[in-house]
Formats: sequence, structure tokens, C-alpha cells
Amino acid sequence: MKAIRVQEYGDESVLRYEDVPDPEPAQRRAVVKVRAASINRGDIARRQGTYGGGLTALPFTPGWEVAGTVEALGEGVEGLAVGDRVIGQLGDGGYAERALVHEAGIYKMPDEMSFEEGCTIPVVFLTAWLALRKMCRLQANETALIQAGGSGVGVAAIQIAKLAGARVITTAGSDEKCARCLELGADHAINYRDKDFVQEVNRITEAAGADVVLESVGGEVFEKSLAAMGRYGRLCVVGNSSGQTNSLDPRTTLMFKNLSVSGFYLGAEIAAGGAGPIMEELLRLFQQGKLRTVIDRTFPLAETAAAHRYLGERKNFGKVVLVP
Ligand SMILES: NC(=O)c1ccc[n+]([C@@H]2O[C@H](COP(=O)([O-])OP(=O)(O)OC[C@H]3O[C@@H](n4cnc5c(N)ncnc54)[C@H](OP(=O)(O)O)[C@@H]3O)[C@@H](O)[C@H]2O)c1
Repeated sequence: MKAIRVQEYGDESVLRYEDVPDPEPAQRRAVVKVRAASINRGDIARRQGTYGGGLTALPFTPGWEVAGTVEALGEGVEGLAVGDRVIGQLGDGGYAERALVHEAGIYKMPDEMSFEEGCTIPVVFLTAWLALRKMCRLQANETALIQAGGSGVGVAAIQIAKLAGARVITTAGSDEKCARCLELGADHAINYRDKDFVQEVNRITEAAGADVVLESVGGEVFEKSLAAMGRYGRLCVVGNSSGQTNSLDPRTTLMFKNLSVSGFYLGAEIAAGGAGPIMEELLRLFQQGKLRTVIDRTFPLAETAAAHRYLGERKNFGKVVLVP
């Protein structure tokens, strides 16, 4: 089969479209014929060798989430049949014509959902849900500030915060992205290139500040997010798209406003067994029409390098999908 292989860290050119052996069914794992695979920003960091301190072992095939049909079942797999339409979440190997997925990461896909839609759900919707609801305990009538509203995580977070009954303020880097955030349900969208988002949050909340912040950018955005929070505010860090680091003096930044800062990593939640029930709940909400996927573009698997370049240049609003 064809797959994308990364043999060395680097720019998009290290994403090679190659022939590799088909995966064999294994204990409690199914072979899924991939019909669509989603790209996440973490895939770019893994390709560059900077993810989690550069620990991604070479060579590897990127791809944490796919949608397709079950082609073969390994020993001990229960509740699945060959031909089932599924969403698969995996540690590696999604950018390929076939993927080996542990049964714990396989979800039956609603009939009306397309493969392109299905593959874009797990990473960003689980992260947004768990960061806002579990880590920050977002309540109805609170104000949530969602950084990078046009990111994959952002488009999920705007919807999840609205569903929780919160007022949503979001930021994005262009008027076009801001308009699309408003269409998606955000109450306010701030183009941070034109306006200071701390001042804007203060104006919108009449100086009360945000109750909850979903922070995925890092650097100055993290520091200014703390300044945009009100008393007893809760901020959850889910990413560091800017690549900038932070140092924090808790006394001056947190103490005087009684702020809480947490971090969330989906991999740790999956390892702890917490993702499955939330994914089932998310799929119910999709079936009820209360959530929707936002797909910006699809690229053929053979053109993964161009797809990474597109995401790296911040051109996407929502998700970018690969089709084998
Ligand atoms: N913790 C977890 O388990 C988890 C799970 C999923 C994702 N994440 C993280 O969450 C973040 C978002 O992921 P994603 O896949 O949704 O990202 P994405 O779709 O690639 O969007 C990222 C957006 O961030 C904005 N941004 C602001 N400042 C930036 C900068 N200096 N450099 C690059 N982008 C900047 C850009 O939008 P504008 O042009 O509008 O500024 C960009 O399009 C990433 O950091 C990712 O690693 C973490």
C-alpha cells in the first residue's frame, strides 16, 4: 500500500509518499481501509522533530485519526464486523491507505456522516470538550475566551462553549476568519492584528474579564490571556502553536486575581481511559445536529507535503483532510 513516511525531521519535503507493507491484523486491533485522514498541527511539530521535545522516533507515518471501513479483524476484537464504517484514533500511521487501530480507539460512524467529516472529530473535539468542561468546568452564562478560533481546536471549542451556554469571545488573525467564527456561533470575534484582545475583552465584559480561557498559542498570547481574565478565572493550555515559551511568576500573575492555570494533553486522557465515553457523547451531539465539523480543504494523500505547507502557513479555517 501507499503511505507517507518520515525518515528524517525537516520541512514538508521529508513527507515521502512510498510503498510500504500492508498492516496485518493483530491482537485486539483491526485493519481499517482509510478513506480519509485528518491533519493536526501536532503532526507538523512531529515532522519537524520538536513535538514533546523532539521525541518522535524515526522513521514514522504520521496521522492520529482516520475514517474508513473495517477490512480485517485481529484476535479478540469484539463488537465490530468487516465492512463497518468507523472512525479510528491511533498513535501513528493514519496517513496511509490502511491503518492498524486498537479496538479501544475505534468508534462506529453515524450513517449520515461522511468519511471526511468523521476523521476530523476525535482530536480537536475531544481536546476542546475536555479542556473546557473537565479542566475549566465551564458553566452556563460564563464568558469563555477561545484563542485561535479558526484553528481545528478553535472551531470545536466555539461550538462546545456555546452548547454549554457560555458567552464566547474568540480571536483570529484575519477579518475573514473572524466572520466565519461568528457564523459558527461565537458572540464576539477579535482580529488581534487590528485590536488588542485584552482591551476588547475588558470592553465586552465591562471590565469583569473572561471566566475561562482556552489557550493554544503560547508566548505573548498566554501572558495577555492571563491579563484578560477575571477573578477566579480558569485557563487551560492545550498547545503552543507559536513555539514561544513562557515563564510565570505565580504571585504577580495568578495570586491577586485567584486564577487557576491547567494543562491538558489528550494522549494522557486516552491512556487514562477517559476519552471513549466523551467521544460517544460527541457522536450523539453530531447526530442531533448540535455540533458540526468544519472542513476547510481536502488534499490527495500523495500531496501531503502541500497540505502541511497550507496548514503551516495558517491558511486553514478548521480542518484539513487527506484522501488516499
Ligand atoms: N493538548 C492536546 O492534546 C492537543 C490536541 C490537539 C491540538 N493541540 C494543540 O492545539 C493547537 C491548535 O491545533 P490545531 O491542529 O487546531 O491548529 P491549526 O488548525 O493549525 O491552527 C492553529 C492556528 O493558530 C493560530 N496562531 C496564532 N499564532 C500563531 C503562531 N505564532 N504560529 C502559528 N499559528 C498561530 C493561527 O491562526 P490565525 O491565523 O487566526 O492566528 C493558526 O491557523 C496546536 O498548538 C496543537 O498542537 C493540543
